[in-house]
Amino acid sequence: MADFYITTAIDYVNGSPHIGHAYEKILTDVISRFHRLMGDKVHFLTGTDEYGQKVQQTAKARGVPAQEFADTVSAEFKAMLPRLQISNDDFIRTTEERHKKVVRELLQKLFDKGDIYKSQYHGFYSTRQEQFLQEKDRNPDGSWPEIYGEVQEIVEPNYFFKLKAYQPWLLEFLAANPAFIFPKYRQKQVLEFLKEPLNDMCISRPRERLEWGIPLPFDEAFVTYVWFDALVNYFSAVADKPGTWPAAWHVIGKDILVPPHAVYWPVMLHAAGLPLPKGILAHGWWLSAGSKMSKSKGNVLNPLALVDEFGSDALRFFLIREMNVGQDGDFSRELFLTRYNSDLANDLGNLVNRVLNMTNRFAAGSIPAPAGELEAEAELRKLWGETRAEYVPLFEQFQFHTALERLFVFIRSINAYIEKRAPWKLGKSAEPADQALLATSLATMAEALRLASVALRPVMPGATDKINAVLGYTPAGTWSEELAWDGRLAASKVAQSLVLFPRPAPQAKAP
Ligand code: ME8
Ligand code: MG
Repeated sequence: MADFYITTAIDYVNGSPHIGHAYEKILTDVISRFHRLMGDKVHFLTGTDEYGQKVQQTAKARGVPAQEFADTVSAEFKAMLPRLQISNDDFIRTTEERHKKVVRELLQKLFDKGDIYKSQYHGFYSTRQEQFLQEKDRNPDGSWPEIYGEVQEIVEPNYFFKLKAYQPWLLEFLAANPAFIFPKYRQKQVLEFLKEPLNDMCISRPRERLEWGIPLPFDEAFVTYVWFDALVNYFSAVADKPGTWPAAWHVIGKDILVPPHAVYWPVMLHAAGLPLPKGILAHGWWLSAGSKMSKSKGNVLNPLALVDEFGSDALRFFLIREMNVGQDGDFSRELFLTRYNSDLANDLGNLVNRVLNMTNRFAAGSIPAPAGELEAEAELRKLWGETRAEYVPLFEQFQFHTALERLFVFIRSINAYIEKRAPWKLGKSAEPADQALLATSLATMAEALRLASVALRPVMPGATDKINAVLGYTPAGTWSEELAWDGRLAASKVAQSLVLFPRPAPQAKAP
């Protein structure tokens, strides 16, 4: 039983993970951690998509059996998760028995219902996208758009799913559920696709041509088309977890929204009499010099090399801070270093060091209780109130880049507050008023840092754990308790120092 079930796309195992894959997991992880902090019981699924022509071809080219190849690459994707601090509850592989069983049951159900029939197929196939194409998908000059890679003409008997019969239902459903697709502007793209009559969906491949797939239960001479198998993972993974389906969100990239997630999947579920997910979140692409990073293109950045160099908190922060969810973003080492230096090493890292350093110097390492509040404290507290009031709704609306922008205004204001109070001057005075103000300023900066750290937790779980630890603080509650400014750190013992984000060597190499 979970009240917030969230999934990522499952990755093809035809190449190593890149920043795009890492981003999707991190984005889904941030949403998952946010919901846990809101008190929801979260179930977070990710995994690998292992069947289909693309994987079979890649395995063949390497001279390895498909299963063996899938095992190796799937393990590589799985091993990336802890290194990115991904808090998934489950990892599904489409080659697992639990998945195959549910796919075959679903196929049989739709076949018995009369929604699947056999007929002759004539058309074109893109292996890169694992997608059947039509004449209308061609460029005006007759060539195929580059995104499809090599396109093959195919004539063969196959099984078809009666997609077209459900088109009126789907249109009604989308009209009644305008929030089904996030961002909303992508709904237009779906409606555009549905303007034309749908073709029934070819859901099989003769086994003599494609061995690497799940056999149809009603005709073992055919295997299931990879999308008809892959989409089902979201359901098969929780088939033994009553109360978990339907998902709250499927997090995917914009390239697989139409038709797979916005057309095939809702219709498949509806035809099978299953409830639909609450929504589909389609994020944009990470580009490298303006072009999509992809395994097929080979212009990819290895996320784990950045983790080795800067830590996964920094990578997570960059990806979430920089990307407006739904739009595309440019990835470059330069942009990464700029964020790293300004926001992390400078604004946040310095703040942590100042709080530790001054608490040790002026209060023997024990955070004082505040002794009253003057204007500067009241102002900072007010800014926190405003930041918090915006922050949670921005998270609910997937506006993480704006939420972090606001939070860093607050963090910089804490640094400005410290400059203004100049505890190093107050510490030289024996005046009782100065001593009171010194205690207040130490208490205020520590509490403000604690709040910033709590707010950053879904994005940088490792770094914020470290900040909490050096503040002698163990957060336990949900955000509604944790985000309150209440001076709970009084008498906490702080650590000597913490280097959170070391500055990279100045000769850091170009990408
Ligand atoms: O599409 N930027 O797998 P996949 C951002 N197996 N996201 C990117 C990206 C980039 N440069 N490149 C890829 C598949 N992605 C299917 C999914 S789901 C039932 C089956 C995203 O390995 C992409 O949009 O090609 C997708 O959501 C995910 O990575 C896996 O891509
Ligand atoms: Mg892809």
